[in-house]
Amino acid sequence: MRMDINAVQRVYRRYAPAYDFYFGAMFQPGRREIIARLDCRPGDRILEVGVGTGLSLSLYPRHVEITGIDLSREMLVRARARRRCQHLKHVVALRLMDAEHMQFADNSFDKVVAMYVVSVTPHPARMTDEMRRVCKPGGELFIVNHFHHANSLVGGVERLAAPFSHVMGFRPDFSLEHFIDETGLDVAARIPVNALGYWTLLRCRNNKRSRAGVAPMPALA
Ligand SMILES: C[S@@+](CC[C@H](N)C(=O)[O-])C[C@H]1O[C@@H](n2cnc3c(N)ncnc32)[C@H](O)[C@@H]1O
Repeated sequence: MRMDINAVQRVYRRYAPAYDFYFGAMFQPGRREIIARLDCRPGDRILEVGVGTGLSLSLYPRHVEITGIDLSREMLVRARARRRCQHLKHVVALRLMDAEHMQFADNSFDKVVAMYVVSVTPHPARMTDEMRRVCKPGGELFIVNHFHHANSLVGGVERLAAPFSHVMGFRPDFSLEHFIDETGLDVAARIPVNALGYWTLLRCRNNKRSRAGVAPMPALA
């Protein structure tokens, strides 16, 4: 079941005070793995969509510029406090913004990252299109998420839990194959991460194709 923006904001308002306790250590290997694979060059501009309470921010090297956005005011308040307390000067902005409708110009970032967000946002393909748009051509998109499990027992439990997505704050039965099909993502690597490899890290080239696989029209003169 798809959530709407209000449901996402409601759930993460509720999660925010205890989010780090429940999802901090458990998801940290996936966060570390993405940042290790970013191959950050000095001055790289990196966007993290759905930055949440900012658990990843201290993991980025100090020679890059990080911008984080999130839909939840309460999650962002914590990310801003973390930036302040830990003196994270490489974090240049933390903004309240919908990743499906970003206010950044085309080609603003070298790399765009989404950690545990694609099964939360109401329209994952719309968010992916926006990630592509704001990322430079030849840049990279990095996504880590839980996807529907192939094992029939685990997959069955996920399907049973699916109607409660709006309470849990994510879709447990989110299919990787469907996501790749729908988005046309150019996946360069799929890496299992976190406990039992139950989550997947996707490293994708920014091929700048739209979902239908058609190159965007050049601007009219
Ligand atoms: C499961 S949390 C992950 C937070 C963080 N990335 C982490 O590693 O802990 C999902 C986050 O995505 C945010 N989110 C969901 N949909 C979004 C959207 N369309 N635009 C911006 N943020 C979104 C939620 O508000 C929430 O903070």
